[in-house]
Amino acid sequence: MFRRFFRRPNPIRCHIRNVSLFGKDYKEDHMTNLTPRIINNLGNHKHRIPNHPIEIIKNEIYKFFDSKTGITFAKFEDLNPVVTVEQNFDSVLIPKDHVSRDKKDNYYINEDTLLRAHTSAHQVELLRKKESTFLCCGDVYRRDTMDRSHYPIFHQMEGVRLFSEEELGIPLFQDRKQRTESCQEHYSLEAVEKVENELKITLEGLVKHLFGEDVQYRWMDEYFPFTHPSFEIEVFYEGDWLEILGCGIMEYQVLVNGCSEDKIGWAFGLGLERLAMRLFDINDIRLFWKSEVVLDQFQSFNGDFRQFKFVLPERKIEPAKFDLAFWIPDGFHDHDFYDIARNIDVDDAIENVELIDVFSHPKTGKTSHCYRTYYRGALKGLQFKDVEHIDTAIRAVLAEQGAGLR
Ligand code: PHE
Repeated sequence: MFRRFFRRPNPIRCHIRNVSLFGKDYKEDHMTNLTPRIINNLGNHKHRIPNHPIEIIKNEIYKFFDSKTGITFAKFEDLNPVVTVEQNFDSVLIPKDHVSRDKKDNYYINEDTLLRAHTSAHQVELLRKKESTFLCCGDVYRRDTMDRSHYPIFHQMEGVRLFSEEELGIPLFQDRKQRTESCQEHYSLEAVEKVENELKITLEGLVKHLFGEDVQYRWMDEYFPFTHPSFEIEVFYEGDWLEILGCGIMEYQVLVNGCSEDKIGWAFGLGLERLAMRLFDINDIRLFWKSEVVLDQFQSFNGDFRQFKFVLPERKIEPAKFDLAFWIPDGFHDHDFYDIARNIDVDDAIENVELIDVFSHPKTGKTSHCYRTYYRGALKGLQFKDVEHIDTAIRAVLAEQGAGLR
């Protein structure tokens, strides 16, 4: 399957195959780009492993919502990561031509199905089940660069709270003809202000719960297709402003899709790795996948983020570097290179990869890419001889895919 992803369309060689995920068969097609590496890790999520830092952050967020908001949030953390294009994109109003649908950024099973790229994929499905106040946690999948803060599988937490007219005590709807920066066309300004205020108080509470009462944070305007107005919270942490979550007033059409057209609501989404990396000073995202080592240290975590110190593994050897230049096959994207590398590098020896040169030949019109790969384990340094076979295998796959190695 992996090979076929890079093959140029060839009607004679093109035959339909099936991929089986969680006991269900899916037909592969021109959109299929799921790799064996990802398939092998499906369901290997970290938010349900006791004492895993991702599980600890998840529980801490649950704890805040359970004890400090005064209302009950239903919790969903075992929804199938295999979702339809309709769930992941259409149901939350992501336009047909939006860049986030791109094959280079997502793991498609076929043209109708993919691995969820965000937990917002479940908003409408849960609203239709008449859930109106919930948290939804899950593993999400994105094709991306390869470095210490990106991994193709990570974890998100989604929160949704709807309000009825009765609960809010004021009229929700008003035909405003046009939307403004601060209000959608269907809702009354008073209702939006009240819900926005509630959202901000809730999320400020969450930030203080996680980072401490004296945390410095700021609200920034944002854009998401499924909320309006939309915001982001940034937290000042160790000298940097760090975006930690996106949120906003849910688009009315999302509520209509979820058969909740008589309500107004807020939603937020956040990445658990990003929070865990800050709160525990974990400087390499691959460490979350070294459960055997990480779990050991987190056994002694007693709930106090400010007291607990995660001891980073010492890696004395500098990364081993390899450069690789080749003429790219048609339609090749740097994310394709990272997937080839990840697929071979099953033990995560690669710390990061940089695309250091792009060159177009003036006569042949061919384009060449040069990648610099840094090898160093998350737990220990690696030497040239430890990783040479990975570099050789990457070259072999590239040659097979029609890349002209230089
Ligand atoms: N789904 C968004 C993301 O992955 C986060 C988000 C969720 C933003 C809900 C607004 C509301 O970036």
